[in-house]
Order: sequence, then structure tokens, then C-alpha cells
Amino acid sequence: MTQMNSSRPLRFVTLLGSLRRNSYHYAVARSLAELAPEGVTIDALGSVADIPHYDADVQAEAFPPAVLEMAERIRSADGVIIVTPEYNYSVPGALKNALDWLSRTTPAPFAGKPVAIQTASPGAIGGARAQYHLRQVMVFLDGDVLNKPEIMIGNVSSKIDAEAQKITDESTKALIAQQLAALAAMARR
Ligand code: FNR
Repeated sequence: MTQMNSSRPLRFVTLLGSLRRNSYHYAVARSLAELAPEGVTIDALGSVADIPHYDADVQAEAFPPAVLEMAERIRSADGVIIVTPEYNYSVPGALKNALDWLSRTTPAPFAGKPVAIQTASPGAIGGARAQYHLRQVMVFLDGDVLNKPEIMIGNVSSKIDAEAQKITDESTKALIAQQLAALAAMARR
């Protein structure tokens, strides 16, 4: 008998949009494993800092190895969690650049892939505007973006200890756990 779909082990990967040491988003990304439901493991993708600026001439010669590796790890994952700051009401350039490269690889790594988005900000609305730009980008990449719950962590310094790389706010942790469970349910459908 095949394994019940509802208990199939899942592997998610995280894609981080910040390069900053002591990044709040890094603290979130590394907290996910302990908030994940049973049967779900979470690993980090390579850094978007290792990917050069998109250039079609470079692509014509050869895709950068960091792009090919990231694309393959996304293809073989059961879901992707994008954890990113909002920069100037949108997606940070380094993350957008990585998505641009990934979009040129075949087979399309995000096609049909369950994707969850998490943002945080010192501001009140927690990076909401970047999330909606990212959702728009994901339309062309064919990602299957989870609708709810949305993780937009406002007033982040009161909820995350970036130096300790920990989420300190219990309700934020509980909401993230709910989102990971929803992503797992989506991936097992
Ligand atoms: C920001 N920040 C920011 N915050 C926000 O809520 N909306 C925004 O549009 C912007 N824009 C913006 C642009 C640039 C260039 C920087 C450097 C910062 C603030 C941002 O949310 C804050 O620096 C976070 O701490 C960045 O996330 P990490 O690096 O801590 O993960």
C-alpha cells in the first residue's frame, strides 16, 4: 500500500531576500524548522548574493552555477518559503534578480510549486506592499502562492531578537506555524 497522502514527508526550502548580518528575515527563516508541522523539513537555498546581475549575454554563454543549483533545489522541493524585506514598497533588487535568472531556466522551477511569502518591517504594515509585488511576479513564474494566512510582521523589533536570531513574539510564532501547516496541506493536495 502506498503511503497516505496526508502523512507524506515534505521538504521545503527558504529563499532569503536580505543580505544583512543580523537580518530580521534571516532570524525568521532559521526559526521555521521548529515551527513546522510534523513530517516537514526546511532547508535554506543558497544566497541571492551569489547570483550575478541578470545578463542575457551571460545566459547565452552559460547559466551561472548558483542559478542552476538554486533552480534544481526548488524543482526538487515540495514548497518554497520566500522570506524577504520590503525595499521602497517593492521586492529587494537582489531577490528580484535571482527570480529573473530562475525564470529563464527550464523546466520552470516555480511552475505549480507551492510558495509561501513572509515579510517583516519596522513599519506597521510589515512589508505588505512587497508581498503583493511578489505575488504579481509569481504569476509569470507560475508559482502556486498560498493565500492565507499572510505573514506580515509589523513593528519587528518588538517581535524578533535579530542578534539572538529568534522570534520572541508568541502570536507571531503561532501564525507562522499556521502558515506552514497550510503550505504543507497545499503541497499534499
Ligand atoms: C527599507 N525598509 C523598508 N521598510 C518598509 O516597511 N517599507 C519599505 O518600503 C522599506 N524600504 C527600504 C528600502 C531600503 C533600501 C532599506 C535598506 C530598507 C526598512 C526595512 O524593512 C528594514 O531595514 C528591515 O530591517 C530589512 O530587513 P532585514 O535586513 O532586517 O532582514
